[in-house]
Amino acid sequence: MRIALRNITKRFGATLALENISLEVSDGELVALVGPSGCGKTTLLRLVAGFEAPDFGDILFDGRSVLKVPPERRGVGLVFQHYALFPHMTVFENVAYGLKFTRSSVKVEDRVHELLELVGLTGLERRMPSELSAGQQQRVALARALAPHPKVLLLDEPLSALDAKLRERLRLEIKKIQRALKITTLYVTHDQEEALAVADRIAVMSAAHIEQIGTPFEVYSLPATEFVARFIGRGNLLTGRVVRREGNKVTLSLGESMFQAHCGTQLEPGQWVTALIRPEKIRLNQPAENTLRGKIIGIEFAGDTLWLYVHAAGITVVVKSGVLDLREGDQVQLGFSASDLFLVPSGRTPPPTPSPRE
Ligand SMILES: Nc1ncnc2c1ncn2[C@@H]1O[C@H](COP(=O)(O)OP(=O)(O)OP(=O)(O)O)[C@@H](O)[C@H]1O
Ligand SMILES: [Mg+2]
Repeated sequence: MRIALRNITKRFGATLALENISLEVSDGELVALVGPSGCGKTTLLRLVAGFEAPDFGDILFDGRSVLKVPPERRGVGLVFQHYALFPHMTVFENVAYGLKFTRSSVKVEDRVHELLELVGLTGLERRMPSELSAGQQQRVALARALAPHPKVLLLDEPLSALDAKLRERLRLEIKKIQRALKITTLYVTHDQEEALAVADRIAVMSAAHIEQIGTPFEVYSLPATEFVARFIGRGNLLTGRVVRREGNKVTLSLGESMFQAHCGTQLEPGQWVTALIRPEKIRLNQPAENTLRGKIIGIEFAGDTLWLYVHAAGITVVVKSGVLDLREGDQVQLGFSASDLFLVPSGRTPPPTPSPRE
């Protein structure tokens, strides 16, 4: 099933929850909606499910408007953050409940067993929800949502009530099931790492609008706006000024330092730009096109790597390092190539304020 949202606007009284949102989801695609609290993710899902109607715009399933179709006839399966299983029903009954509204000729029992196998809960049919772990409860919720063969699956922060390890495992399982069933899916999360891991494409939302829609690679490596650069992944944003330009190479001044960067867009000397450098692109104490001296002011141990916080050029630069014998207070040289410095389009964000030196 293809889903298309066309110029959707939704208000709640004075609150603008969604502003002129357009989004297309292909058949079988998993699109993750990410963004900070209150940006409109749940509202968007509720509109697709039919629990709310937009003030403006249209929602189409396979090219047909569904605005007049009630929720129970949209063929949509839902899973929410709080599993909302029926506490007085067994696992079997909970999943069978999902079949209540279908007139399918398949025997309920066969379908329930099939679903429990799909989500890895075979054998737990007679348990009550209170006798299940949080992760198992969420699998039951998924099985119940999938029971009537929905054409669209809507997941609203399905894993956010679970601990980190379980979240990682279940997100892979959800993706596997989604792939196997080829079911068109909207997956809401405020966890950008989860979105990068599961999504075919990610829609990054901020304050009622979509900042960028792209593959995980695109939103991570080619952020369309400063907001996306900040929200997706860890990154360092350096504000500098264009000194000169030769072909696709620009020289930027950042405080006392000069940097080389590649750029595809038109930039003129004097213009302020924001450049993104990802922590894993920075090399320590090695020759590089761009270098910056600094002092380690913090270290986080992460198994095979260290996250370093380096005070350099008046800001704190985050560095991912494979070198483990480093200490707070060490002087280091940060190096990175021109091609790893990505100039972030200013987008909706206001232009950076000139430094007090000006
Ligand atoms: N029924 C409602 N009545 C009034 N305002 C609402 C209603 N539902 C949502 N809102 C407002 O609309 C905006 C978007 O809310 P929404 O629940 O879609 O955000 P969200 O992105 O899902 O946030 P979160 O990550 O916290 O779940 C918020 O400002 C919210 O307060
Ligand atoms: Mg929400």
